[in-house]
Amino acid sequence: MNETLQVIRNRRSTRAFKSEQIKEEELQEILQAGIYAPSANNGQPWHFTAVQNKELIDSLNEGFKALVRKSPDENLRKIGENEKFHVFYNAPTVIFLSGDKNSPSADVDCSAAVENMLIAAEAEGIGSCWIGFIAFLLNSEEGRDYLKELGIPEGFRQIHAVALGYKKVNIVNAPARKENTVNYII
Ligand SMILES: Cc1cc2nc3c(=O)[nH]c(=O)nc-3n(C[C@H](O)[C@H](O)[C@H](O)COP(=O)(O)O)c2cc1C
Repeated sequence: MNETLQVIRNRRSTRAFKSEQIKEEELQEILQAGIYAPSANNGQPWHFTAVQNKELIDSLNEGFKALVRKSPDENLRKIGENEKFHVFYNAPTVIFLSGDKNSPSADVDCSAAVENMLIAAEAEGIGSCWIGFIAFLLNSEEGRDYLKELGIPEGFRQIHAVALGYKKVNIVNAPARKENTVNYII
């Protein structure tokens, strides 16, 4: 199989990371892959915030868990109460993707950037996980100070995050994919 297609097929969400930090060149390659994603009208309505400060990553995890412990959703409450759960799975690097509030395509464009970064990470032998959960915190009242600490630009809102680090275990089996999701008209 073509190498790029093999990388796409091999990518799995990594939820157990080594504490060792990824190399600067690897981080830069991953960020460039995100920046080179397509965007509607080439609007690039995104901002990337790369965080390698463990204290801040852990503090965001604590803020997230405190918030979901108050949730009316029982599953979310359970996540918040689970001592072992870490919203970034203790990844040493997290990239936050924020989107221009005035852009109608920010969600889609940022998603394209995230997927590019996940594939780039896999190509570099780095584990990654798409983290949507953290938007609960960062787009809430409780998240305001965190947005400042992260330096999210004025007029931008948190959309997605990507947890990155070397894989503790190599996941080979993909979660089952649904069948019959393709229609052919010839
Ligand atoms: C929009 C979006 C948000 C996601 N948010 C989370 C998340 O917060 N935490 C998590 O562990 N996985 C998250 N994931 C990863 C999915 O759970 C994962 O991609 C899916 O189970 C398929 O597994 P695979 O990535 O190994 O193919 C998210 C994926 C997407 C597309």
